[in-house]
Amino acid sequence: MGAQPIQAVTRGQLRPLYEAAAGPSLKFLMDLIARPNTCKAWYWENGAEAVACAWFTHVGEEGELIDIRVAENKRRMGLAASLLNFTLGELASIGVTVCRLEVRQSNFAARGLYEGLGFETVGQRPNYYRVQEGREDAILMAANIKAMFNP
Ligand SMILES: CC(C)(COP(=O)(O)OP(=O)(O)OC[C@H]1O[C@@H](n2cnc3c(N)ncnc32)[C@H](O)[C@@H]1OP(=O)(O)O)[C@@H](O)C(=O)NCCC(=O)NCCS
Repeated sequence: MGAQPIQAVTRGQLRPLYEAAAGPSLKFLMDLIARPNTCKAWYWENGAEAVACAWFTHVGEEGELIDIRVAENKRRMGLAASLLNFTLGELASIGVTVCRLEVRQSNFAARGLYEGLGFETVGQRPNYYRVQEGREDAILMAANIKAMFNP
């Protein structure tokens, strides 16, 4: 299993990861990678099946993780951590020094993942996301990936 860049032809393989998923739609993400100078995305595949993917935008030294997801039956196996390690290294190699992201306060799985990789909380947007009953905060996190990959 190896990480491969996401291209337009990959869309069909990624569709199962985005069925009934919260967060950005696959169409939104595919539209982003139509601009390869400012968007990079990779996926892991297992046979013909995509099991994880991660999408970033970047401008100059600033990168942003837009989405990461792992197939439900492949979670807690270290796939997201491995994919992020690989993709953040790729971003660092093209001159991105800081990666930022935004995550729902209640998304403890994702927050644990990011903290484990060295992301730190740098801000909070109160009542940012709509939830079934009311709203919840967005947590803003950032990591110095230059220091992580070129110590
Ligand atoms: C968040 C997500 C990508 C994690 O993927 P994963 O492959 O299961 O994560 P990993 O196995 O690499 O786990 C790495 C670390 O993340 C944390 N983590 C992952 N899932 C967790 C969970 N369900 N509960 C608590 N911590 C969790 C743990 O710290 C874990 O390390 P550990 O297994 O040594 O304890 C996955 O749950 C997912 O696709 N969720 C839906 C999409 C989503 O919320 N994406 C984030 C948008 S901001």
